[in-house]
Amino acid sequence: NATPDLVIVGAGIFGLTIAQQAVEKLGVNVTIIDIRDHIGGNAYSYMDPETGAEIHKYGAHLFHTSNSRVWEYVNRFTKFTDYVHRVYATHDGEVFPLPINLGTINQFFRANYTPAQAKALIDEQAGELAGTDPANLNDQGISLIGRPLYEAFIKNYTAKQWQTDPSELPASIIKRLPVRFNYNNRYFKDTWEGLPADGYTAWLERMIDDPRITVKLETDFFDETQPLNKRALLEAGVPVVYTGPVDRYFDYDLGELKWRTVDFKEVRYDEGDHFGCAVMNFSDADVPYTRAIEFKNFNPERAAEQNPNKTVVWEEYSRFANRDDEPYYPINTDEDKALYAQYKAKAADEPNVVFGGRLGTYAYYDMDQVFNQALISYEKQVEPLLKK
Ligand code: FAD
Ligand code: NA
Repeated sequence: NATPDLVIVGAGIFGLTIAQQAVEKLGVNVTIIDIRDHIGGNAYSYMDPETGAEIHKYGAHLFHTSNSRVWEYVNRFTKFTDYVHRVYATHDGEVFPLPINLGTINQFFRANYTPAQAKALIDEQAGELAGTDPANLNDQGISLIGRPLYEAFIKNYTAKQWQTDPSELPASIIKRLPVRFNYNNRYFKDTWEGLPADGYTAWLERMIDDPRITVKLETDFFDETQPLNKRALLEAGVPVVYTGPVDRYFDYDLGELKWRTVDFKEVRYDEGDHFGCAVMNFSDADVPYTRAIEFKNFNPERAAEQNPNKTVVWEEYSRFANRDDEPYYPINTDEDKALYAQYKAKAADEPNVVFGGRLGTYAYYDMDQVFNQALISYEKQVEPLLKK
């Protein structure tokens, strides 16, 4: 077992893209290690035998992009379905379309406003606090879309996401609340969207289907009883791409970066379709979860292979993450930002190691952004290291 030319820590989208590029461009031997028992990172999914649903293990993942380089790249490894993402919200015993649009507004106010009339109404309601600086998230929400819609669709949902009363949350958490003055409730505005036709895992496995790429699962970079550990690789001068948490790499010596996580509660129903859509938000305080995902409805084209009498739903509960939880959303307070800037400087000084991906750079990125960053990082950082 010769030492690989490149070791990649993390078999998520960033790591897999770097591996694919290194082999295609330079023909080197790459080993990818991951602490989990599967590849794909947070985009991993598996089939549920009872219902025929494809369950996204780390939360619902929808692929969407306007980046033509990324779209061409991902299409080398998978076809995409023509799924179009739409989200609905249950509020006060009624179901409304999201994002807030003319359909939501006219249903909520029992009206038949034209676009111009609806806009005039929302502008007037948003003027309630005119001339004052928003002191907290409630003020900010009211100033953006007016009190009625803010309180119905945003306030309690945000409180559940943050486990904090919005009167105690900073206004800066929400910069914009888009309202559409037409009936378009297509969730994403990107040029392309869809789901991988035969699933996330088959897609991501095809990216690394090459004898020069070796994957070692259940292997921790920091475990010195396995040969591809941090100390051994740095001493041997082997190039490393690290996509784990940046604070963990430095043994948290400057402190911990803070994240939110999500707990998923699986519920099974003896019926073919429970919500009639893939994502149902719960906007009110009396339902403790933020939203529910009905995975079968992401793949209506598979109806013939799905169980017509059973469905599976995951309810999402949001909370602050401890060190042992899956980190999902960076909290990004000013304190976190300052701390990350310090870790970033240390990472830049680390010879032979390239930091990347959402954990390595403490950021929330959609998948297409991670593909794009990995393609750029390969060219600018990794290939020069491999040619040294
Ligand atoms: P990851 O996928 O996190 O991969 C990092 C890998 O490193 C992991 O597999 C981890 O096990 C491994 N690792 C960490 N530490 C070690 C160690 N010490 N040793 C070995 N291995 C280690 N994007 C979209 O485009 N659309 C969506 O709808 C969408 N929904 C999302 C929903 C949720 C709840 C979340 C959290 C994210 C969502 N995303 C979505 C974002 C998407 O998941 C990410 O952009 C993408 O998966 C990040 O890839 P990555 O390679 O940077 O990181
Ligand atoms: Na998502």
